[in-house]
Amino acid sequence: MKNRNTVRIAITKGRVEKNAVKLFQASGIDCEELLNKGRKLIFHDSVNNIDFVLAKGPDVLTYVDHGVVDMGIVGKDVILEQNKNYYEVLDLKTGRCKFSVAGLPDTNLYEGYKRLKIATKYPNVARNHFRSKGKDVEIIKIEGSVELAPILGLSDAILDIVETGNTLKANGLVILEDVCDISTRLVVNITSMKLKKEEILSIVTMLQNGMAEMEKQIAG
Ligand code: PRP
Repeated sequence: MKNRNTVRIAITKGRVEKNAVKLFQASGIDCEELLNKGRKLIFHDSVNNIDFVLAKGPDVLTYVDHGVVDMGIVGKDVILEQNKNYYEVLDLKTGRCKFSVAGLPDTNLYEGYKRLKIATKYPNVARNHFRSKGKDVEIIKIEGSVELAPILGLSDAILDIVETGNTLKANGLVILEDVCDISTRLVVNITSMKLKKEEILSIVTMLQNGMAEMEKQIAG
C-alpha cells in the first residue's frame, strides 16, 4: 500500500481490546504483536500501514477528539458519558451489555418525594436519565464496585453496566429499570475523515467484512 497515509487507531484496553483483536484477525489484519504485547502500548502494522494504540476508554475519545489518533474503538457507555467531537461510524456489535438502574429489591424509584441518591461511575448518564424522567436525584460518583453503594447505605440505587447480571445477583441487588443498550463503536476524528478519507473508509470496509466473516463462522 504505497503512498498511503498511516492511520492511527486507539483501542480501549481490556475487554474491548480482546474483541477488537478477534475482529482485526477476522478482517485479515496481523495481530501477532498485539497478542504478544507485554507492557507495550503502541504497535505498527506495516502491511496495512496502521498504528495501534492501547488506552483507557475515556482517553481513547480524548485522543480522537484532539486528532492525535484518527480512529477509536470504544464502548457506547464511554461515548454517552463524555461530551466530545467525532463521528461514530460503526457499531461493532461486540461488548454488548446495557445501562440499568439497580438496587435492593422493593426499592421504589418514582414514588414519594424523597430525593434519591444514585451512585454511579457515569454521573452524566445518570443525570440525563433521571432528568428525562423528571426526577430530581443526587448523584454520587464512585470509581468501581458500585454495587457496594446501596448495600453499605451510601445510595438508594446505582446506575451501572449490566452484562450477565451475575454481579448484581451475587450481591443481592435487582434491576429496577433498564436505561439503554450498549455495544462497542468505531469513532473517527472529524478532520481525519476529510484528510485520510480513502484510508479510513478502506479500514471501515475491512472491519465490516471481518464482522460478516465472524457472523458466518458463528452461524456455522
Ligand atoms: C462492570 C460493571 C459491573 C459488572 C457487570 O464492572 O460495573 O460491576 O461489570 O457485569 P455482569 O453483569 O456480567 O456481572 P467491571 O468488571 O468493569 O469492574 P468495576 O466494578 O471495577 O467497574
